[in-house]
Amino acid sequence: MEFRAAIFMAILLCSSIPSSFAQNHKSPPAPATVSLPPSPAPAPSPRHVDLGDLLSVAGPFHTFLDYLEKTDVLKTFQNQANNTKEGITLFVPKDSAFASLKKTTFANLTSDQLKSLALYHALPKYYSLAEFNKLSTLNPVATLAGGDYTLNLTDDMGTVHVKSMWSNPKISSSVYSTRPVAVYEVDRVLLPMQIFKSDPPLAPAPAPAPESSHGKKPAADSPLPGKSTSADAKADKKSSSATPASGIVGGGYFVLAASALAAGLLMMMM
Ligand SMILES: *[C@@H]1O[C@H](CO)[C@@H](O)[C@H](O)[C@H]1NC(C)=O
Ligand SMILES: *[C@@H]1O[C@H](CO)[C@@H](O)[C@H](O)[C@H]1NC(C)=O
Ligand SMILES: *[C@@H]1O[C@H](CO)[C@@H](O)[C@H](O)[C@H]1NC(C)=O
Repeated sequence: MEFRAAIFMAILLCSSIPSSFAQNHKSPPAPATVSLPPSPAPAPSPRHVDLGDLLSVAGPFHTFLDYLEKTDVLKTFQNQANNTKEGITLFVPKDSAFASLKKTTFANLTSDQLKSLALYHALPKYYSLAEFNKLSTLNPVATLAGGDYTLNLTDDMGTVHVKSMWSNPKISSSVYSTRPVAVYEVDRVLLPMQIFKSDPPLAPAPAPAPESSHGKKPAADSPLPGKSTSADAKADKKSSSATPASGIVGGGYFVLAASALAAGLLMMMM
């Protein structure tokens, strides 16, 4: 008798399980979350990329880094990177870009002008390379130097150019690009008209002409298509080798998980 009753119960249970499963399908992990709290999840205090470290190992960008340190603008940049939602985009000239200018170019600048010049190389917002497309419709684009210190961004067949009054360098490489910090290498110093009133103070020796003609050529004929793809590959390689901070994304997931957990606990208390 008892045996029969047991079988009956078992059959009853078995037949009721599928439907209850189906009903609870949306919210089964409630008991599972209870076991999670004791796990020692470390508080994900966001780790910020150190711009000084980054610029000292990439490039070479020693001249620009020297200016950033001398003018204290490095702190301004780092603060923008650490403490704003918008983030920062840097255009960093290579040492060779400074070398191509006359040595005396910056000799007579006041410390305020040097500061503005350094700040002129940054946008107060993070932009991925892809986003420059949209940005070019917003020209002129404000820089951290403020006021009339603006840049014009143009996308020429996938090559982004950053135009100041006296130079129009292309972005030659993506050094680092993980929200909220983007660092792009440029092959010329950005020279605003607010500081340089007259002719481009270029050193006489190197001819910058071949660069601009080379930028337009791919539109007309096809012998150069390999060129841009290899440049892209190089940029990809560089940016992928410099993305240790993608853990920030994981931090975001953690916050989500934590709030889901809190919600689960609340429901259990009710
Ligand atoms: C930026 O954050 C790093 C660590 O995440 C910290 O060491 C540094 O002092 C911060 N700098 C500023 C200017 O907030
Ligand atoms: C810097 O100022 C000095 C004296 O005022 C002047 O002789 C020199 O030409 C200036 N140099 C530059 C690069 O403007
Ligand atoms: C940027 O574009 C605006 C409008 O198209 C123009 O007035 C300005 O002179 C340009 N600035 C530079 C630095 O080329």
